[in-house]
Parts: sequence; C-alpha cells; structure tokens
Amino acid sequence: MKLFSSVHDVTDINELVADALRLKHAPHEHKHLGKNKTLGLIFLNPSLRTRMSTQIAGANLGMQVMVLNIDKEGWALELQDGAVMNGTTVEHIREAAAVLGEYCDIIGVRSFPGLKNREEDYSEAIFNKFVKYCGVPVVSLESATRHPLQSLADLVTIEELKTRDRPKVLLTWAPHIKPLPQAVPNSFAEWMCKADVDFTIAHPKGYELNTEFTNGAKITHNQDEALAGADFIYVKNWSAYEPYGQVFGGNEDWMLTNQKLQQTNNAKVMHCLPVRRNLELSDEILDGPNSVVIHEAGNRVWAAQAVLKLMLEELE
Ligand code: CP
Repeated sequence: MKLFSSVHDVTDINELVADALRLKHAPHEHKHLGKNKTLGLIFLNPSLRTRMSTQIAGANLGMQVMVLNIDKEGWALELQDGAVMNGTTVEHIREAAAVLGEYCDIIGVRSFPGLKNREEDYSEAIFNKFVKYCGVPVVSLESATRHPLQSLADLVTIEELKTRDRPKVLLTWAPHIKPLPQAVPNSFAEWMCKADVDFTIAHPKGYELNTEFTNGAKITHNQDEALAGADFIYVKNWSAYEPYGQVFGGNEDWMLTNQKLQQTNNAKVMHCLPVRRNLELSDEILDGPNSVVIHEAGNRVWAAQAVLKLMLEELE
C-alpha cells in the first residue's frame, strides 16, 4: 500500500482488522520491517491520540519516528500554485513536501478543513499536494474529509467487543458549541458501510452528510427509534454539509444519557475523542460501564501499526 487516505485504499478490511488484532497481541514481532526506515509525522493541526499512537506504532515496527508540527515549527507554508510569495508565506508546499520525502520513507499528514469553501475542502487540496510532491508513501492522520486511522481503530474495537454477528451500529449526532468537520462521521460511515454490521445514522434535520460516504446506511432523524436495540453507539458532532460548515441552534436534547441508553442492547458507547463533557456526552456515560472510549483510543496504536506494516512490507 502506497497511500492510506480512505477505506478505498484497502484491499481487504477484514484482513487489516485481523492483522491489527494480531499486532495487539504481538506488538514487537515485526521490528525488522522498520529497521533503518524513517517515519515523518507532519501536523498542520493539533493532536494527542493520532500523534502518540502513530509514533508508538512506528517505534513498535522498528522505525525512527520524527514529528513536525509544521504549522508552528516549520516555515509559513504557501499552498497556492502560481502564488507570488511576497506576503507572509515563506516556503511553498511543493518544496516542503519534496524535502520531507528526501528525509522520510513514509510520511503521515494531518490537515483539517477550513470549513469555509466546500469545494476546496472536499478536493483535499492540501493533503493531495503532500501526496503529489513528497514521492513516498503517505498515511492520512486526518484530512479535510476523512479520518481513516480512527475509523480502522473503531472497526477493530467493534470486532473485539461485539457479542453477536452483524452487530447493530448507530452513528448519532451530538451537540457542540462550534462547527466541527465532517471527517470523522464521513469516514466512520464509509468504513461501516463496507463492514459486516447493521448500520444506521441518526441526526437532526439539516446535518445530512455527503451521500458519497453514507451509501448503504439507514438514515433517520429520530434518535429514539435508532437507539432501539443498538449494540454500539458512536457519538459525534459535525457541522452541516449544506449550507457548508453551518450549525443550527437547538438540538441539545441529542446528548446521550443513561436514560436514552436504556433503549439499546446495553450498547457500548464510542467517541473518537477529544470529547466535551456534558455537551457532547454526559459524565454519567463517560464514567459509566458502557463507555469504551479509552479502549477505542488504545486501539489507535494497532490500527496505525497494521497500516504502517503493510506499507513497510511493500518497501522491502
Ligand atoms: N481522535 C483523534 O484523532 O484524536 P487527536 O485529534 O487527539 O489525534
């Protein structure tokens, strides 16, 4: 694999999940693969989980790992082709990406959307420029429209914790105070639509995701109906796709509570984190027995390691 930017880059998701679970039980078995190989993790936005889990994953495979918070520690990047760089930007992404490709055997890139210009965000302009100019395999550490390492960890978590075949999985919108990207729900939907699960998305009217990501999912505006019998509930806020990046008032009653959880099949509650307590998810859920958010975050290591292993095997 030379690119991991979405579920479409994966030949067999079941095998990838199985490999992540094998790595969880034998993390250091493939250290030879990364010997004398460098992984560069390039962040244009903040991160806790993605940064540390991918760093651990690379180290487990024997790689040297370097992290660059390019937005703070690098030169101010110019992203537009043809720009006359007589303003505040100092280095063009063409040179920056190409130089990173000289230093690293694999790079990971995190680049969030601006949520102002849908066409620009959904063209993955920044992420794709890194792919185009770096000349080495690239892993998405979350791009404008997708977060595939998170989604893979989510599927690993569901596979590990499910108590029946074809579990009922619900992605439910949650309240927030500011517009958030659609990357996590887009990506989760895309992976769930390919997995062997019974998948539903519930959200208030106006928060429809791009159908490119939800094809095959059941979609409802009735959260109570969707909660009935659910085995896994994935809680996440996102802003509107149309009008792009907007949030509408109200809907605070979409926050998941223990009372709502009673309608489910004792569902396990998931969230990619970071989470705003008592806004997106209640204390009682996060601190209660149904929350698997920490377990899920732990699985980020094995998801990243499975992907890096595939890339290293091709570099051999
Ligand atoms: N879930 C996730 O990607 O967390 P970070 O933003 O902290 O990396």
